[in-house]
Amino acid sequence: MYIDFHTHIIPEIDDGAKDVGMATAMLEIAYENNADTVILTPHVNSGADFEHFLQTRKKKFNLLTKELKTSRVAHPNLMLGAEVLLDGALSERENVRSLCIEGTELLLLELPYTPWNSWYNHEIYNIISKHEVIPVMAHIDRYLRSPKDIRKLDALVSFGVKFQVNASSFLSFSGRRIIRELAAEGLIYAFGSDCHNLTNRSPDLSKAFRALGKKFGEDFIDYIYDKTYDMLENNTIK
Ligand SMILES: [Fe+2]
Repeated sequence: MYIDFHTHIIPEIDDGAKDVGMATAMLEIAYENNADTVILTPHVNSGADFEHFLQTRKKKFNLLTKELKTSRVAHPNLMLGAEVLLDGALSERENVRSLCIEGTELLLLELPYTPWNSWYNHEIYNIISKHEVIPVMAHIDRYLRSPKDIRKLDALVSFGVKFQVNASSFLSFSGRRIIRELAAEGLIYAFGSDCHNLTNRSPDLSKAFRALGKKFGEDFIDYIYDKTYDMLENNTIK
């Protein structure tokens, strides 16, 4: 059993599922793979109109749940969230908390596609203190080039930031080294597929989980499941 913490399954809202049929098929795959819960995390930019984003997300989510009901497709539990792209002004925005995973203070934050920048720590600190959220860094494996880069995370760890990795990164040579290091330091809080479609970025994590189980033992996937579950449970908005 696992929780897919990072997905682009809500149809017609970002570069993920193109339509409700694709979204339904993606959820079927997750269910067949034994996903217990799937968190739906469409992209949103820091400068976007959050209210508009949330309305669109609700509309498209309703479309999806209606289809799941009529087609009687078995699917995992669904939770609403967002993948928020960090920029230097996010902490100044209002209503950042509205982008948290529903019922929690967890905010899935994506770093810009640039080499590690020194302003990240400062901005993330401001977001935590002003908005009282707990950032979960999306696919942190993507930003680390070598195992020693893990030290770049020290400040974030000291702020209480959590980390999500893309499980399929473990299937590449460099990703494997990074994930080994993150696991050794106890920094993996959640696995995600970061799925966008049914082909090259699919929700099927079976191959990655087999490789992870082989390396860390079969219990490892369950261990991360418990950690993710605890994180979701214990960060409920008071
Ligand atoms: Fe993503």
